[in-house]
Amino acid sequence: MAQGPFPARSGGPPRRTLCAARYALQIVARCPFAHPRLHDDDFLGALWALTLPLVEPARLVQLQADWLRPDRESELDDEEERPFRRRMRRGTEESPLLDGVPGARMREFLIAHFTAIPERLLAQLVQADGHRPTHPSVTVLAHCAGLDEIECRILDFVEKKEAVPYFRTFLREAGCDSSRDNYACLSAALDVRTLELQSRLFRRNPLALLALVKKANRRANLEDVLQSEDLFDDILTLEPTTSAALLAALIEPAGAAECALADFPHLAPEAARLSAVLGKAAATLAPGVNALLYGPPGSGKTEFAHVLADALDRELVVMASSDLVSPYVGEPERNLARLFADIDTAHSMLLLDEVDSLLRDRRQARHSWEATQVNELLQQMERFGGIFIAATNLIGQLDAAAMRCFNFKLQFRTLEHTQRRSLFAREALGDARRVGEIAPALGARLDALDMLTQGDFANVVRQRDLLGDTPSPKDFLRRLIVECRHKEGMQAAA
Ligand SMILES: Nc1ncnc2c1ncn2[C@@H]1O[C@H](COP(=O)(O)OP(=O)(O)O)[C@@H](O)[C@H]1O
Ligand SMILES: [Mg+2]
Repeated sequence: MAQGPFPARSGGPPRRTLCAARYALQIVARCPFAHPRLHDDDFLGALWALTLPLVEPARLVQLQADWLRPDRESELDDEEERPFRRRMRRGTEESPLLDGVPGARMREFLIAHFTAIPERLLAQLVQADGHRPTHPSVTVLAHCAGLDEIECRILDFVEKKEAVPYFRTFLREAGCDSSRDNYACLSAALDVRTLELQSRLFRRNPLALLALVKKANRRANLEDVLQSEDLFDDILTLEPTTSAALLAALIEPAGAAECALADFPHLAPEAARLSAVLGKAAATLAPGVNALLYGPPGSGKTEFAHVLADALDRELVVMASSDLVSPYVGEPERNLARLFADIDTAHSMLLLDEVDSLLRDRRQARHSWEATQVNELLQQMERFGGIFIAATNLIGQLDAAAMRCFNFKLQFRTLEHTQRRSLFAREALGDARRVGEIAPALGARLDALDMLTQGDFANVVRQRDLLGDTPSPKDFLRRLIVECRHKEGMQAAA
């Protein structure tokens, strides 16, 4: 075979570029099912743009001269050129591929070489970046949170997706949307076995618990299968380079914590009943059971839905209602219908979060489409054969007739005095039974924090875990107060 395009440049491109190029090359080299995509201009163009910085400048000049050499009449006629003709481009992204006969030569050359990427080149690239994250904040985060090497690689991959536009295009255009292909591509890019990768993406593992990266829980394109959470985005934007700066960046609510039904004593009788009813419905495949969870933010509604799903051994499909709302005629109805139709009612259950944005009181609707949305959701609920949970922070804004359609309504509250004290003892003193040891002054401050929720405790615990520090009980309380103030501020601003 002719000499390849990539003798990797020494001392050349920045590590970030090198890394994104390596991920793309490893996917192409190890996932032959993606090779037909090389005939697509968007995919080939993104791959070429990513790998261009690896090409030795002298070699590039040589290649370009070859592609641009004067045409010999018989060499390539129009017929041959046709499959490669430039397609209309979406957005403003410019294709780095040439047009016309030189373009055809270029594509032919690139396709041949991308179809047979030598392992030697990949090994060389791994050696150059050493699998180390290139963003300094990822390194700080990994250190503070005690992440392992595979978790670091996942964060680095997600960071590259955000930071290198052609890498994003490459992933989007790879044409993978089955879970198996996506995992194969991710394993190839990250150099890890699929099982190891999957285990790092479980809900109870650090990346999810710390609300850094989440895995799409429905059919997703390779571009979207791993999503950075707001907290990780903030960290990348704020670029903390020390653990103190990292603490300052932690302002977002926590991700899921590990808990069980027994951790919801503030709901006790209703929660146990709901769980029993849903369990029975699930076992007998009785059609259409639904529940509405309502209460202030952080009071555990979403967490409770996860706990229920675990208890019933079902996958929880979570959808934010705001993602379905649209002022375009027919769009929310279509979104809703698709969502309900896609649920595997025997193995999954559906949580529609922030449902107030879909079920707004019809009497106060300013637009006709708001009422149409309410009607559509009610119809879907009626027809749905599975378990459906809706959650809202804003019960007062819900349509009264819609409220009557829910079989169960479960109120979530802020914490009672005794619950505040026992959670404080558990988290700040290390044992829930040590409530008697809470200093009177601290106890009095706790009693005054009427807005305190499970979520506030979860946030402070997460900050502590992330930083690996051990705040004194007084500092712990101080952080709880900050969480409450933050909420008051948000309420005042709303
Ligand atoms: N009973 C509980 N025990 C421990 N942690 C909880 C409990 N309920 C909620 N949490 C934690 O509090 C945080 C906020 O809970 P979440 O379910 O998101 O609240 P909501 O949906 O009501 O806004 C999450 O991190 C969650 O894991
Ligand atoms: Mg929630």
